[in-house]
Amino acid sequence: MKLNDTSSLLAFLKSRKSASAKAMGGPGPNAVHLTEILSMAARVPDHGKLTPWRFVTFQGDARAQVGALFANRWAELNPSHGGDVLRFQADLFMRAPLVVAVVSTASPHEKIPVWEQQMSAAAVCFNMELAAISLGFDVQWQSDWVAYDVGAKAAMDLKGGEQVAGLIYIGKSTIALEDRPRPDVTKFTTHWGA
Ligand SMILES: Cc1cc2nc3c(=O)[nH]c(=O)nc-3n(C[C@H](O)[C@H](O)[C@H](O)COP(=O)(O)O)c2cc1C
Repeated sequence: MKLNDTSSLLAFLKSRKSASAKAMGGPGPNAVHLTEILSMAARVPDHGKLTPWRFVTFQGDARAQVGALFANRWAELNPSHGGDVLRFQADLFMRAPLVVAVVSTASPHEKIPVWEQQMSAAAVCFNMELAAISLGFDVQWQSDWVAYDVGAKAAMDLKGGEQVAGLIYIGKSTIALEDRPRPDVTKFTTHWGA
């Protein structure tokens, strides 16, 4: 398919920016939106068609339930920490109506390097952001300690060897989105042979 009118896509790509999970409220995607977001997200380059990723969604009460497991794990790792810090961990996923864990399931393959499978998962993360924004939501791609801690990963239903490519927070920003300085491509682009 060719775009008939690329001007809005150009304007979008030139101005796209993330929200902050710290200032995100509702409403979040409904069930129809969610299916659309996940379907669009999965439409990415995938060498060997391995689908080396999967999704775990956290919505509604599930966010507090997994948060309680995060807080317990944080307390186990940091026995001296108390109230406020534990509450912050418990509320981590409460900051947005929907959090999607994009899980990289990459594993050694005879032809496709693990690195390429992992890059496909990163493409899924960004494509999920674009899909959600196109439906009118705001997004942030996060990792945080829960993406790397073995106990927190198990709490999110990850299996051994799986990695969190991204935790995509999806909702509506409660404040105007702020841009950040963007890199100057001329500083890191070389033209071989020039
Ligand atoms: C793999 C990955 C992990 C990230 N983890 C976090 C995080 O844990 N916390 C955070 O504030 N931003 C994190 N970011 C950065 C934000 O997603 C985002 O890039 C930043 O808010 C500015 O986004 P923008 O350039 O899309 O506007 C992460 C980005 C990537 C690519």
